[in-house]
Amino acid sequence: MPQAGFSTRSVHLTNQIDPHTHAMEVPIVLNTAFAYKDLESWLRVALHQEPGHIYSRNSNPTCRHFEEVMADLEGTEAATSFSTGMAAISSTLLALLSPGQRVVSIKDSYGATYLHFTQILPRFQIRCDVLDSEDHEGIEAAIAQGCDLVYLESPTNPTLKVLDLRRICAAAARVGAVTVVDNTFATPINQNPAALGADLVIHSATKFICGHNDALGGVVCGSRELVGQVYRYRELTGSALDPFSAYLLIRSIKTLALRVRQQNENALQVARYLERHPAVSRVYYPGLPHHPNHDLATRQMRGFGGVLSFDLKGGMETIEQVLPRLRHAYMAANLGQVATIVGPPAATSHVECTQEERAAAGIPEGLVRYAVGIEDVEDLIADLEQALS
Ligand SMILES: Cc1ncc(COP(=O)(O)O)c(C=O)c1O
Repeated sequence: MPQAGFSTRSVHLTNQIDPHTHAMEVPIVLNTAFAYKDLESWLRVALHQEPGHIYSRNSNPTCRHFEEVMADLEGTEAATSFSTGMAAISSTLLALLSPGQRVVSIKDSYGATYLHFTQILPRFQIRCDVLDSEDHEGIEAAIAQGCDLVYLESPTNPTLKVLDLRRICAAAARVGAVTVVDNTFATPINQNPAALGADLVIHSATKFICGHNDALGGVVCGSRELVGQVYRYRELTGSALDPFSAYLLIRSIKTLALRVRQQNENALQVARYLERHPAVSRVYYPGLPHHPNHDLATRQMRGFGGVLSFDLKGGMETIEQVLPRLRHAYMAANLGQVATIVGPPAATSHVECTQEERAAAGIPEGLVRYAVGIEDVEDLIADLEQALS
């Protein structure tokens, strides 16, 4: 039989029939510690000679189930989970990098990620070159000079640029660098970076994976060896996912494909509406034919995602008037949820950055990020119409 599709896998991999109770949903195992009747079996599990769990900072059955489903959806051997997306990102960077090494990345990745390259890693004598994500030649040339890790995000948050992952991963492989891709915006439904050559794929599971605005989480997917290195760092530093959030994320994955397909469709329609609106000076969405990377996105992605951004004429002053008028969009710092969420990068993706840092990262101050939910798209468009009029 061919491999089942995303919806089938999402629904069935998230079930597990309990041999005693026949309950079919994955249980929330809230235990901190797991007890053994004899020291020998305890030690065999503790030394990873036998499967099992010892202490939930290290591993937990509910969290393990979430990791296995995510590895399957991303098409990788293994995955390890974290308390948040940033815990996954910072742990990956600190697990894999040492003083004297060099990172090549892009300047318009998620704000807190960008600050790792400009503020945190340089403190450990790790050189970080953050480049223009539209300059693929420049990125390739920087990688060819020799580097240890290439960190990418595609589409980017919040300006929705699309990087040629196959091309950049190939350049990284030529110099033996590890490639890490943040796939939060695309989700495994729209894009699988490992199939394009990435070594590690990261998600802020807080976003589309959760989708119900009620759990934080992060995950790193990749080969057993690399994920093992990241896991080891997490085991020692402690940013583990909690079992209750893991349960919520597992529950959410059952509808991930359904939600993302609706969000892809809604975002495209909203983007098409906004680009014709006289109050909007520019729309950023890879699904629009005039997007600079539309052809690449069409080749690389199965859908263009549920987030778009736009520039409002009149900048911040207009944003302050328009956003509170929206009735079907919450002003909040999240995305990928069933409800539409809207906000400027200054209050969302780049809230940790100063105005100068946002300008350096190429983020216009008048930008609005609009993360569509699964509402009826006619209602979202009517809502935008009344707010912009
Ligand atoms: C692309 C991307 N990566 C990582 C993160 C960080 O995730 P978390 O908020 O779960 O730490 C975010 C948060 O918005 C994000 O948008």
